[in-house]
Amino acid sequence: MNTLINKRILVGVCGGIAAYKTAYLIRGLIESGAEVEVVQTHGGTQFVTPLTFQALSGRPVHSRLLHHDSEAGMGHISLARWADLIVVAPATAHFISKLAHGMADDLLSTICLAADVPILVAPAMNRQMWNNPATQANIQTIQSNGISIIGPGVGDQACGESGPGRMLEPDEIKSSINAHFRSSLLSGANVLITAGPTRESIDPVRFISNHSSGRMGFAVAQAALEADARVTLIAGPVSINPPDRVTYVPVTTAFEMQSEVFREIEDTDIFISAAAVADYRCVDVADQKIKKYEDNLSLQLEKNPDIISNVTKSSHKPFTVGFAAETDDLANNAKSKLKAKKMDMIAANPVGKDKGFDSEYNTIEVFWNDGHLNLGTSSKQKLARNLIKLIASRYDEKHPD
Ligand code: C5P
Repeated sequence: MNTLINKRILVGVCGGIAAYKTAYLIRGLIESGAEVEVVQTHGGTQFVTPLTFQALSGRPVHSRLLHHDSEAGMGHISLARWADLIVVAPATAHFISKLAHGMADDLLSTICLAADVPILVAPAMNRQMWNNPATQANIQTIQSNGISIIGPGVGDQACGESGPGRMLEPDEIKSSINAHFRSSLLSGANVLITAGPTRESIDPVRFISNHSSGRMGFAVAQAALEADARVTLIAGPVSINPPDRVTYVPVTTAFEMQSEVFREIEDTDIFISAAAVADYRCVDVADQKIKKYEDNLSLQLEKNPDIISNVTKSSHKPFTVGFAAETDDLANNAKSKLKAKKMDMIAANPVGKDKGFDSEYNTIEVFWNDGHLNLGTSSKQKLARNLIKLIASRYDEKHPD
């Protein structure tokens, strides 16, 4: 399974001859749908020019720490926050030693120190340097600090010797990156997700809807797939593509969404309602386009079914997670909805100008009846993965077998 779509991977390139293989790695990551930012150490730029990596990644390459151009654009902290994963390939003995000692004297080492995302290191060096007790001690240290080492391979080396120290091949590194994003947290679980807005007709050409883009729900669907769930995604009208391997059910109105949800509910273990369901629909939908003869026009609206409440009232109640998009008093409004709609969890996010609905980013705090967790602000993909982890752990607590 390709887990790389929309993943933000920061590739660090140190000064080793294996840097030429990193060009193939970056091309492979881009082909699989990842976004890649490249950071080269000074030594790294001596082996392959930044222009090569810029052409492959489609973005400027970063190599300087204390430079006004670098810090004015994506500085070290922004790059550290941007990434879902940092991969250092090739990682030299020198760079590994800097990681082990928490040094921050160039851009790449500073990013690694400032990052709170996983770091994969693909060492590349002469066999003697690899076997040196100092290098082995540094490897132990960085592993115990939570950094993962991939490789090195064993075989002929560029220096003419043979032994351990070769950087893994680009495909092997890519497989490790893929595996990093995959988990079995929801193996065997059927997850039903609603996403996007619903659309309620006024007449044959007009409708009532909202600004939901569907991105949050689609990101949750992708994260659930990566956690090995079987995923059904029911979505209102959106302009984005569903992830591969979901069962995709496009709908238009709240009523259609509800009937598709109830078609699935008996087989559902976890229901995640990320859709911004229109609360009201027109009592009468005009057969013909309404003409603008009058200065004022009144539409009579009636309430749509509350899908999530109907699900939690049903005899087969799955583990149910809702979303609360709020412009004010986030925590209290979310907690009241959690109770009123009898959900197991609610993900509350602030909405308003440039926040939430049509943005790439979101801010989420999750509440359940005796706890809460702030997932902070980040890309919808990263939030979705953290939300799925949290859902999986709460779901396991309720279903220990
Ligand atoms: O609109 P509201 O803030 O009450 O939405 C909270 C939760 O209820 C969301 O998860 C939303 O998907 C769900 N909802 C629903 N049916 C509605 C309105 C909202 O399932 N008619």
